[in-house]
Amino acid sequence: MSCGDLLDLNDCSVTEWTHLIKLADDIRLNPRDYMRRCEGKVLATLFYEPSTRTQMSFQAAMLRLGGQIIGFDNPVNSSVSKGETLMDTMRIVSNYADIIVVRHPQEGAARAASLYARCPVINAGDGGHLHPTQTLTDLVTLSTVKGKLTGLRIGVCGDLKFGRTVHSLLKAMSRFEGNRFYLISTPELAVPDYCKEILDHAGCPYEEVGALDECIGELDVLYMTRIQQERFATPEAYEKQRGVFVLTPEKLSRARKDLAVLHPLPRVDEIDLAIDDDPRALYFTQARLGMFGRMALILRMLEEDINIHSERNYHVHAADCSNPRCITHTEKYLPHNVCPDENGQEICLYCEEKC
Ligand code: NCD
Repeated sequence: MSCGDLLDLNDCSVTEWTHLIKLADDIRLNPRDYMRRCEGKVLATLFYEPSTRTQMSFQAAMLRLGGQIIGFDNPVNSSVSKGETLMDTMRIVSNYADIIVVRHPQEGAARAASLYARCPVINAGDGGHLHPTQTLTDLVTLSTVKGKLTGLRIGVCGDLKFGRTVHSLLKAMSRFEGNRFYLISTPELAVPDYCKEILDHAGCPYEEVGALDECIGELDVLYMTRIQQERFATPEAYEKQRGVFVLTPEKLSRARKDLAVLHPLPRVDEIDLAIDDDPRALYFTQARLGMFGRMALILRMLEEDINIHSERNYHVHAADCSNPRCITHTEKYLPHNVCPDENGQEICLYCEEKC
């Protein structure tokens, strides 16, 4: 494992986030100063799951830093379709690239990949688990548009169960003083217990709310998400959840004038198109700012100027992981490693589910 993998944004300190945010800002304002900083370096994007923004913004980020890109956006076009393991793919690609960005449908896949890569790995989304660089995007956006990351009333709405962007965002924002969360979802799509435990551990207040109307007037930030259709066990289960939360102009009329409406995108039907012209609709700005955040991240990782504690103290566990969406169920050679969580309880090293 390389010591500088970015698997979970909380493996970096708040001071490190501040460096990244400042650097992203400087890159945005002075792009010419950074045009050649990654000359001679290669970034690989290995996307086992569909993507528009994350993949292209990583590629654009590397190209704008003067580096080169390789990779696949559909595993069907790679040796994965011939049965190659994640382990072998990582061993091979790390001969060609200086840094690897991986997105995968299984939870814990990025950590599994990092065990076999000989260069740094960035988690670009591992199933319904985490999405650290979307959160970096969100931090850059909030500090640009709100001027602070503290003392915010943040509503997160939609699929809080499978929405990995929400999990990473809650983990990150719970580290800042004075933030309060409104978790807006149906009971079926509530935030996983481990996220609530992180909020409790951080002393971060939150309320679970069943309707947008109950809290929209109080919010500084509303983070909308789509219902993650591809992660439901059956089409019927998805049908029951679709269209429950839709941000309409009528609902927005009850919100504060300085509300920031964010969304990691893609949008399906949860934000009415009529809202796009409202100055509070910041999701397209958010997508643009994400590219500068990713430029800052690539630069600091390649220049080894970054402090990331991605390693865990782990040991082998006899039983299989209980989470059916964990990478250990598809990549069978992976050792069943477990590590302690904040409360000392054993969790799967890869997907972080309790044993
Ligand atoms: C998100 C993702 O892939 O988790 N998209 C993104 O990276 N901006 C959100 C989603 O797919 O709903």
